[in-house]
Amino acid sequence: MSDDCVLVASGIRKRYGGQTALDDVTFRVIRGAVNVLIGENGAGKSTLMRILAGVEEADAGELRLNGEAVEIRSPRDAARCGIGIVHQELALLPNLDVAENIFAGRELVRGVGWIDRPREDARSVEALTHLRNPMRAATPVAELPLGRRQIVEIARTIAHGAGILILDEPTSALSSAETDALFAVMGELKLKGCTVIYISHRLHELLHVGDYFTVLRGGRVVGEAARAEVDRGWIVERMSGRVESDSRRECSTDGAEALGVAGLSNGVVDDASLSLGRGEIVGVYGLLGSGRTELLESLAGAREFRGEVRLRGEPVQLDSVRSAVDAGIVLVPEDRQRDGLVPELSIRENVALGARGWLTSKAAETARVRELAAQLNLRAVNLELPVTTLSGGNQQKVLLARCLMTSPKVLLLDEPTRGVDVGAKAEIYEALRRLAAGGLAILFASSEIEETRTLADRVLVLRQGRIGAEFAREDATDEALFAAASPTVVERAL
Ligand SMILES: Nc1ncnc2c1ncn2[C@@H]1O[C@H](COP(=O)(O)OP(=O)(O)OP(=O)(O)O)[C@@H](O)[C@H]1O
Ligand SMILES: [Mg+2]
Repeated sequence: MSDDCVLVASGIRKRYGGQTALDDVTFRVIRGAVNVLIGENGAGKSTLMRILAGVEEADAGELRLNGEAVEIRSPRDAARCGIGIVHQELALLPNLDVAENIFAGRELVRGVGWIDRPREDARSVEALTHLRNPMRAATPVAELPLGRRQIVEIARTIAHGAGILILDEPTSALSSAETDALFAVMGELKLKGCTVIYISHRLHELLHVGDYFTVLRGGRVVGEAARAEVDRGWIVERMSGRVESDSRRECSTDGAEALGVAGLSNGVVDDASLSLGRGEIVGVYGLLGSGRTELLESLAGAREFRGEVRLRGEPVQLDSVRSAVDAGIVLVPEDRQRDGLVPELSIRENVALGARGWLTSKAAETARVRELAAQLNLRAVNLELPVTTLSGGNQQKVLLARCLMTSPKVLLLDEPTRGVDVGAKAEIYEALRRLAAGGLAILFASSEIEETRTLADRVLVLRQGRIGAEFAREDATDEALFAAASPTVVERAL
């Protein structure tokens, strides 16, 4: 077995303050394979990867590369060992352009230290085309939507020819076409002898691409197996120690309209009308570019539009985010880093940002933050720690808590469980259902069919900016949703 291993981390321990993130972990990485690392939010996956990538040092343990002991104390050491990483939370420099980001810190030079821009541009364009996502080398990264920024990060590692490529949730912001392109590239890299370490919460993807599976739970390895021995049940049981249950609920709307939208157009969305009942959960399903995000942004006061919006029967003006929040409409955005969390603030402060005037005292505010944290099952040792110390899924809960802090009548969510593990996903769905049962109207957009089907009482399908179809939950099958969301032959020809 150890002959097959390109990298073995053994006896790895890591503590943060009082909390153990990794407890005597032995992680074997099989050469030329896609090594899946899976576990609930906070299980320690990113921590282990940061150690392999030299971003963080273990308290104890050793690393062997091709059988030889190695010390990895900095990203430079890791690069020397041929280890490249795409971090879970993107780390691009927004003020630089695409090629500058791909070569940041490893500029190609010509003669006596001139940066060889033409060669950098050519190599960048090549790597991006390879990922079937051609982009201009000179485009500032800040102008790119989340999915494309993620592609730039992946291109960055590929362009440097890492022999061991770590991808920490690379597809959480990608469309299915982009994901397929990434998987094709991973296949090619494998043929060239590269090794991939792959982290994701999308079980169907893992079962599709993974060759070898390692499960972490609470900082310990609790399962290891080759693909042939693994199925969904195997993964879920080891991750959570529980057997999966299918939780559905009765729709709890009382028929009264919470939100009415008539003829909304905003350049992307075209003449959308919809109605959302109190206590109802409605899903908007659509492919990348269908206008899902733009529809929610307009309703949240963040994007200009024409058309009318009624809240509990009364017309409302939504010309700014503030006016929307004051009216009782709030959006949990897709990109929790760019539009959401403030990394310098603590968990509590991030949630408290949502507080409005009526919380008179600091104590009342803190009590409300604690209440929400408990309701959402936020796993934090201490709410005073920086929000960046939380795992990805728990950061998502912070964002949700902040929005609930505004006491909304209508909650909008864009990709409500991006980067959230199956267990925490179920918790978030539960929490949303409880809120709906209490009368909150919920409109969410998702690119995941499974999520749309599980959470929604009713599904609207957006196709190229238009609401083209509507399904009751019983009728919202994978096939029906996908067919309604895909461009028709005529549209494709245009
Ligand atoms: N810098 C830090 N300071 C304090 N605690 C931390 C820090 N980084 C991670 N932790 C804690 O270590 C544990 C493991 O976190 P990690 O980010 O590795 O989880 P993960 O498995 O990647 O989760 P996710 O799927 O949500 O990304 C968590 O409890 C987290 O709160
Ligand atoms: Mg992580």
